[in-house]
Amino acid sequence: MTGIIAAMSCEAELILNVMRDKSPRVICGITFWQGKIGNEDVVLATCGVGKVFAAACAVSMIMAYSPDRIINTGVAGAVSGEVNKLDTVVGTALVQHDMDTTPLGDEPGLISGINKVYFETDRELSDELYRYVELCGGKAKRGIVATGDQFVASAEVKRRISTLFGASCADMEGGAIAHVCYINNVPFAALRTMSDGADGDASGDFMEFCNKAAKISSDVIITYLSTK
Ligand code: ADE
Repeated sequence: MTGIIAAMSCEAELILNVMRDKSPRVICGITFWQGKIGNEDVVLATCGVGKVFAAACAVSMIMAYSPDRIINTGVAGAVSGEVNKLDTVVGTALVQHDMDTTPLGDEPGLISGINKVYFETDRELSDELYRYVELCGGKAKRGIVATGDQFVASAEVKRRISTLFGASCADMEGGAIAHVCYINNVPFAALRTMSDGADGDASGDFMEFCNKAAKISSDVIITYLSTK
């Protein structure tokens, strides 16, 4: 079974529309839809915005459905000059850019206890998704996804995230889901299409491009799962 987590309903609804034989179950206030896309068993959840909702969703999904892998799909803000609006970043690794125990001598983003900054994604699954972005006519990039409880909308914050972490884009959930998947040994991949440039224009661009960007990611997931 493949688990799919999106933050907002605009990122999940197209996928939900093509699921067959679906049934809902609410856990932690989050609705999980179990069903089928093509021959694949799927569980889909719209977790809400931010790391706590994302982690609660990933834990619940793993406990209740034991998915073989989890894919995080949706939109993000581009923080690298090499990534443009409506490009799709397939995550190579995820980092939590707002995790900060540097006053204790740690490096930025370090998760104490497990001693990790970057959570690597599943290579095989990510390669497949990359191929499907291109098959669907999208512009695929590989890169690091930086997650924090912050909508990034300034050149200064954007520069910090790209410089400190070598990130391609910023989101608000992926790093939390990757973290939960890591501690539960569940293969994970992230697919994020750029709605904005995480700069001073980000709020307006997000409003304008969010649905279009979400559709690009959703189409890739649907096509990939339908042909699996
Ligand atoms: N998701 C979409 N755009 C974003 C941004 N600029 N910052 C964080 N998450 C986002």
